[in-house]
Amino acid sequence: MAERPHVFVSRVLPGGDGPDSPLARLRAAADVDLWTGDDPPPAEVLRERLAQADGVLTMLTERIDRALLDAAPHLRAVSNLAVGFDNIDVPACTARGVMVTNTPGVLDETTADMAFALLLAAARRLPEAERAIREGAWGQWHPTWMLGHQVTGATLGIVGPGRIAAAVARRAQGFGMRVLYYGRREAPAFPGERATLAEVLAKSDFVSVHVPLTPETAGMCNAAFFAAMKPSAIFVNTARGGVVDQEALIEALQSGRIAGAALDVMTPEPLPPDHPLLTAPHLVVAPHLGSATEETRTKMAHLAVGGLLGVLAGDHPANVLNPEAAATDRSAR
Ligand code: GLV
Ligand code: GLV
Repeated sequence: MAERPHVFVSRVLPGGDGPDSPLARLRAAADVDLWTGDDPPPAEVLRERLAQADGVLTMLTERIDRALLDAAPHLRAVSNLAVGFDNIDVPACTARGVMVTNTPGVLDETTADMAFALLLAAARRLPEAERAIREGAWGQWHPTWMLGHQVTGATLGIVGPGRIAAAVARRAQGFGMRVLYYGRREAPAFPGERATLAEVLAKSDFVSVHVPLTPETAGMCNAAFFAAMKPSAIFVNTARGGVVDQEALIEALQSGRIAGAALDVMTPEPLPPDHPLLTAPHLVVAPHLGSATEETRTKMAHLAVGGLLGVLAGDHPANVLNPEAAATDRSAR
């Protein structure tokens, strides 16, 4: 290996370029090939730029799959600027001795803020209410106009009791909500009561999904899922669009099977403005902004840089997803 590793970074990093910025830290220890475009590097460019790279700091928009890994013979580290890593074929990385890191922990509270903002916005119909003013549809104060759903004292159902979900549940407690959760495993420290999925869906006024996207969770929020919710309930998704059968969601909203939905993630991203999803009633959407604050994105960039440099230095940073990759015989590549 060269003294200074060669790394490709697929977007300008948050945190600026001051002396203590994530990018400056990376540049101090590695030769950095930086993609400065706002859009992701096209697949063939990524392939070309990774041909010589020891490491890559990537976004959730880049697919790191077998074909790409096979075109990157020197690659030892993949650092994802996200907590979710469904864009990366981790077993394929492990098989090639490539360690993968993500950015857990630092975005939990910020993403929970977004989930709660969406929950409140959908419950109290904020986007619709704002539109009413702008469109001149605000008449005299009327006691039955624009009535929303009560948040305080309602029941929140969590699907997937991870760290972000726990931060959402703590916010719910501040609103006097009862919190139920469904998880495959018991989550002993989780601030809520464990229940079956059927119970969570049947009893909750808000259902918030926090599972990673995996083959098991893909499309799990389907027609049967929405049919099991209360017709007065609101669905919230800040995880991944792929966990939702979007056709089924559109149908559930159109038929009034559920009362509303608030989504920070959807399929595809970016969603074209003429997409059928946007014709569904009682829908609040945000463009994948869960962790989008200056502070949190800077922390994520620092964590991603630390993971990348740590792996390249031969350490096992705490955010490595596949430490077992160390056992792979890289000379066999
Ligand atoms: C964002 O969606 C992330 O996974 O960090
Ligand atoms: C509403 O604005 C009220 O005063 O009840």
